[in-house]
Amino acid sequence: MNAIESRVDSTSVSFCNVTFTYTHPGQNDSILVWLALPEAWNGRFQGVGGGGWVTGYPTEMVPAILRGYAAVSTDGGHDGFSQPADQWAQVSPGNVDLYVLQNFASVALNDMTVFGKQLTESYYGKPIKNSYWSGCSTGGRQGLMMAQRYPNAYDGILATAPGNYWAELLPSFFWPQWIMKQIGYFPPQCELDAITAAAINACDELDGIKDNIIGLTGACNFDPSTVVGQPYACGEVKGIISDKAALIANSTWTGSVSLEGKLQWPGIAPGAPLSGRANTTCDAYGHNCTGVPFSVSTEWLRLFVEKDPAFDPYNYSHAEWDRAVHASVQQYDSIIGTSDPDLTDFKSAGGKMITWHGMADQLIPFNQTVRYYNQVLGLDAEASDFYRFFAAPGVDHCSGGIGAQPTDPLAALIAWVENGEIPQTLAANRTVNGSNWEHDLCLYPLASIYKGGDPAVASSYQCE
Ligand SMILES: *[C@@H]1O[C@H](CO)[C@@H](O)[C@H](O)[C@H]1NC(C)=O
Ligand SMILES: *[C@@H]1O[C@H](CO)[C@@H](O)[C@H](O)[C@H]1NC(C)=O
Ligand SMILES: *[C@@H]1O[C@H](CO)[C@@H](O)[C@H](O)[C@H]1NC(C)=O
Ligand SMILES: *[C@@H]1O[C@H](CO)[C@@H](O)[C@H](O)[C@H]1NC(C)=O
Ligand SMILES: *[C@@H]1O[C@H](CO)[C@@H](O)[C@H](O)[C@H]1NC(C)=O
Ligand SMILES: *[C@@H]1O[C@H](CO)[C@@H](O)[C@H](O)[C@H]1NC(C)=O
Ligand SMILES: *[C@@H]1O[C@H](CO)[C@@H](O)[C@H](O)[C@H]1NC(C)=O
Ligand SMILES: *[C@@H]1O[C@H](CO)[C@@H](O)[C@H](O)[C@H]1NC(C)=O
Ligand SMILES: *[C@@H]1O[C@H](CO)[C@@H](O)[C@H](O)[C@H]1NC(C)=O
Repeated sequence: MNAIESRVDSTSVSFCNVTFTYTHPGQNDSILVWLALPEAWNGRFQGVGGGGWVTGYPTEMVPAILRGYAAVSTDGGHDGFSQPADQWAQVSPGNVDLYVLQNFASVALNDMTVFGKQLTESYYGKPIKNSYWSGCSTGGRQGLMMAQRYPNAYDGILATAPGNYWAELLPSFFWPQWIMKQIGYFPPQCELDAITAAAINACDELDGIKDNIIGLTGACNFDPSTVVGQPYACGEVKGIISDKAALIANSTWTGSVSLEGKLQWPGIAPGAPLSGRANTTCDAYGHNCTGVPFSVSTEWLRLFVEKDPAFDPYNYSHAEWDRAVHASVQQYDSIIGTSDPDLTDFKSAGGKMITWHGMADQLIPFNQTVRYYNQVLGLDAEASDFYRFFAAPGVDHCSGGIGAQPTDPLAALIAWVENGEIPQTLAANRTVNGSNWEHDLCLYPLASIYKGGDPAVASSYQCE
């Protein structure tokens, strides 16, 4: 292990920037760790997660450093930030680099935590008060992995919009693209946006307030075939909503289905932008469109499932698709699935965990967090004593969308871990017509219902 120590000043805080690389002898890996030790230390340690193929990245550490955490992150032994997966996924043609995958999935996360804690305590000459994980998407999956596999590593875990069930999730991103190829129609986004707008219009008021947000996605039974034939227009792009576009929207919401008609993996909720999964690019008039798949998904299918960089996932027959979905789970779930609902050890260690997930997440289905949380509750009916899941209506993947975003979920986690304050709701806010609206995100399975009065204040809503 080589440690290069340097003192740098960021714009507003001074911290000791430690970077080092290490290897697992015999595995031919080289893993980089970033550790930031602020001068004004708050006594806490924070593991910072990544996104997509990125195990972790220094810029993601900045919020933690600014708030006085000793913060750690790692590249996991591959460059998921600037290199396509083709550069690091295989050790040789046809051979997946399973050590890279394992480091990305779990091992490097625990390593950085062990090293990071040791160096932090020796640098300050004091024990760490409490340790926290924070991450969204891949970072959320990593948080769940820490709870499942390294239950003593963190006292508190913030696992936002987690990309767990990786082996099922990664193929499922591609499903709408595959459907478009099957039916021979790649719609302009304007046509799909019109269907989303119609779904929002139909289901908006189920939660008692017309605010362009579907608060009760599970109760939204909008049938896209009802808007077939209606006009859509976005500048030069105009036309009539087609039955094929309705089918694409329905498939994106329903999720992937096997040849026998069995649901393989849930889709995204109606109201979420369809452009994450059913993206296309067209000419200026919305003609001659081609599919734009989420690259992490096609890389997964090409390099990990098929082990053939030249493979084209649009080429799957339905039977081959089913085989690929099965192969993905069969070969990789135990490495990176992060699907284990048994959190007994995390609970025994005294850990606390919060997940919040945007209901308008265009990439990772809100419903898969519902599934995971229900599985956890299925094993331990009292799991909400240590693990709480909050739904964020109208929020997209990790952030964005017009819904209220949690203002400081990490602070809620700290209050739970350090002061025993159990979060009943998560404070959130949004800008509506230029003014600030405050909301309380509800603990799943409760949903926020407008009860009348000033819609900008949280007390006008109830979780029920
Ligand atoms: C180890 O990794 C390096 C760089 O990735 C590569 O050039 C080398 O061939 C690898 N060695 C073995 C024994 O696989
Ligand atoms: C610490 O230094 C490394 C090497 O110069 C740099 O890549 C990294 O961004 C720095 N860390 C932070 C948190 O700024
Ligand atoms: C925002 O303002 C517009 C125009 O006055 C109004 O139609 C709309 O209902 C307002 N939005 C909400 C959520 O109140
Ligand atoms: C989620 O799953 C439930 C059943 O588990 C289903 O009723 C619902 O339609 C799904 N979709 C959404 C967006 O909640
Ligand atoms: C949507 O897809 C589901 C599953 O394939 C199907 O059962 C349902 O009939 C479809 N709905 C519409 C409106 O196409
Ligand atoms: C959709 O594809 C276009 C064209 O490649 C791209 O610019 C855009 O960022 C994509 N949108 C999403 C949500 O991925
Ligand atoms: C459609 O796009 C292809 C590839 O970009 C191009 O070769 C072709 O000329 C386009 N066709 C029309 C009708 O614009
Ligand atoms: C996809 O299928 C077509 C037609 O069967 C074939 O010509 C083409 O080579 C395939 N492409 C790839 C990348 O497998
Ligand atoms: C939410 O409130 C915080 C202050 O509590 C403010 O900084 C932020 O801009 C608000 N966000 C929105 C979207 O209004």
